[in-house]
Amino acid sequence: MEIEKIRELVSKMTLEEKAGLCSGKDFWHTKAVERLGIPSVMVSDGPHGLRKQDDKADHLGVNESIKAVCMPAACATAASFDRELVKTVGEAIGKSCQHEKLCVVLGPAVNIKRSPLCGRNFEYFSEDPYLAGEIAAAYINGVQSQNVGTSIKHFAANSQEHRRLSSSSNVDERTLREIYFPAFETAVKKARPWTVMCSYNRVNGTYASENRWLLTEVLRDCWGFDGYVMSDWGAVSDRVEGIKAGLDLEMPSSGGINDRRIVEAVRSGRLDEKLVDLAAERILNISFRYLENAKPETPWDKEADHLLSASVAEECMVLLKNNGLLPLSKGDDIAFIGEFAEKPRFQGGGSSHINCFKTTSALEAAKGLKITYARGYSVSEDKADESMIAEAVNAAKKAKVAVVFAGLPDSYESEGYDRRNMKMPECQNRLIEAVAAANPNTVVVLHNGSPIEMPWLDKVPAVLEAYLGGQAVGIATVRILFGDANPSGHLAETFPKRLEDNPSYLFYGGEGNEADYREGIFVGYRYYDKKDAEVLFPFGHGLSYTEFEVSDLRLSSGEISDTDTLCVTAKVKNVGKRAGKAVLQLYVGDRKSSMIRPVRELKGFEKVYLEPSQEKTVEFTLDKRAFAFWSVEIGDWLVETGDFTVEVGLSSRDIRASGEVRVNSTAKIKRHYTADSTIGDILSDPNVAGRLKAAMAKLRRGEKPKASDEASEAITDEMDSAMENYMPLRGMMQFSGGAVTDGDIDEIVKILNK
Ligand code: BGC
Repeated sequence: MEIEKIRELVSKMTLEEKAGLCSGKDFWHTKAVERLGIPSVMVSDGPHGLRKQDDKADHLGVNESIKAVCMPAACATAASFDRELVKTVGEAIGKSCQHEKLCVVLGPAVNIKRSPLCGRNFEYFSEDPYLAGEIAAAYINGVQSQNVGTSIKHFAANSQEHRRLSSSSNVDERTLREIYFPAFETAVKKARPWTVMCSYNRVNGTYASENRWLLTEVLRDCWGFDGYVMSDWGAVSDRVEGIKAGLDLEMPSSGGINDRRIVEAVRSGRLDEKLVDLAAERILNISFRYLENAKPETPWDKEADHLLSASVAEECMVLLKNNGLLPLSKGDDIAFIGEFAEKPRFQGGGSSHINCFKTTSALEAAKGLKITYARGYSVSEDKADESMIAEAVNAAKKAKVAVVFAGLPDSYESEGYDRRNMKMPECQNRLIEAVAAANPNTVVVLHNGSPIEMPWLDKVPAVLEAYLGGQAVGIATVRILFGDANPSGHLAETFPKRLEDNPSYLFYGGEGNEADYREGIFVGYRYYDKKDAEVLFPFGHGLSYTEFEVSDLRLSSGEISDTDTLCVTAKVKNVGKRAGKAVLQLYVGDRKSSMIRPVRELKGFEKVYLEPSQEKTVEFTLDKRAFAFWSVEIGDWLVETGDFTVEVGLSSRDIRASGEVRVNSTAKIKRHYTADSTIGDILSDPNVAGRLKAAMAKLRRGEKPKASDEASEAITDEMDSAMENYMPLRGMMQFSGGAVTDGDIDEIVKILNK
């Protein structure tokens, strides 16, 4: 519906009707206004499939929902590094929304993985904002291509579950802009999500649901968001402040209480009715966008989606280690060990929990092959069961290869609370050690949504990270284990050796309601690389059954201005014997900066399919943002003139080719100087350096104070220049013995600020 018509409709609504529209009818629906022909529409979780509830509603995945298809979780799909693939997932989910008459699916969730402990990491994409943004945009484009909306969530800085409804994420602005915002920003700019869901937490003291800077100034004014903002379920504290801040829809229903508060606030003059009109207009705009394109006759072929889920999972699994044992041979006797082989863990707990119409385990998928099975452990127990271990060891001894299916039980990671450590259950660690001792040909397949410690890593020759791979995970696992598919997933997060190594370790969770993000921009590999610290598996890591060579890195220019784009090309060749997919990752690093910056940051990636001996040229385009940092001083992205490294590799620690480009800044920063400004800062500002030099020369008349011989030996040139650089302007007067006056300094300040 055209915006004029929507405005006309809003103008016919009473204040009560408008206030009512700004809060849900129930758990999942917006309110209807029948007399004006405004129907109610339904939203539903998501985001890895549908959690549409018919009867009893809840936001924690407790009650039943309709039978649906569970795709691989976000922790897995990000590891695909494949925009097209994720778009396909979105399209399938969009179609199921059309079939189920849903206006909006509640996702994707793009919060940054600040710590391995966050209970919802499995639902989030990455520790890296560029990757998270690209994958989110692809998902949104996929869903919305079917004329149903998405709700990118949880905006913002919601990287812990601990006290999620009350804690304040205290984050400096540069860190917000560089780390916690860009996934939202990229998605808004590249995919125009119909809605955004604000988070439960406060951001720097103000609830996200009442944060005007967040919901209006950044989201709308800076990035151009044009949909509506809804609250996370129960995230509203002061509804009237929420309307003022730009929170359009409260979910779920407040039972009329907040509708009345809005009405009273307008009547008492506390709230401008125009803001209520605006919220109503935005909500209707989206509802009608769906209603006018509703196609409930859209078929939903769940069997086809089940197979899609399997083929997507195949692209996401990360081969962490392989000494040549994988792929397995189909004729060999193989022991599948561990309860997850029979009952895989393929999704996480909470609001994203899907009621699958079917699942396929690895054991089922391997039917027809020479497999024996031993349960090995009970998922509901932490402690090892010696008789189960003995049975597993026996099976392992008789087999050529033992495959242990291990990982985290549901209770270990879920929405609503954080993990306490990075450990797997004791019974599983013990099992792996025992099986590996019995049969050196032991493979470990992992089902988990977040990094774990691997005390047994040196004792097993191969590890496959299957993440939470969706309901058909067994099909994908077997295809990869036996070489029908070649693994091509890469880690979207660093696996630290120990939890203690993680940059947020000292502060994660916070004190009471104050969660200080003290590590700032140094999240994930940005920290480990700066510290040159050892990790278990680096960001971007992922092996293949073939080998790739990267060569011939070329930059379109050796010197650009920050308004230009730089074209980067590199060749990648499959030098192994199997067809496979390489993930080329492009990182940029500022060689020298006045700011403290990461060594490298991901600014491009491409996934490339290659037959044996095939070579392709991959192209990346870098613009200003690839080189810039957020300058709090100017309130914008800023590039400092200087040299930047451009690296292309197969992981953040496997750089295969690198080049250098000089980027010239076009920023004209008008700085204000005072008598307290340091001489060094003024001299480094090309706009005024000349003026200061001239003024200083005039005052000193070229003379340097004479020092005694002894003293001049102790004063090196370096010290001399440092002393001068760090000296405030007023120092010229203080150290001149009366030759330079206050008036002289005032005069210089005037000249500088002219
Ligand atoms: C979660 C959201 C979810 C909503 C509705 C909340 O508890 O944080 O991600 O969409 O519930 O179930």
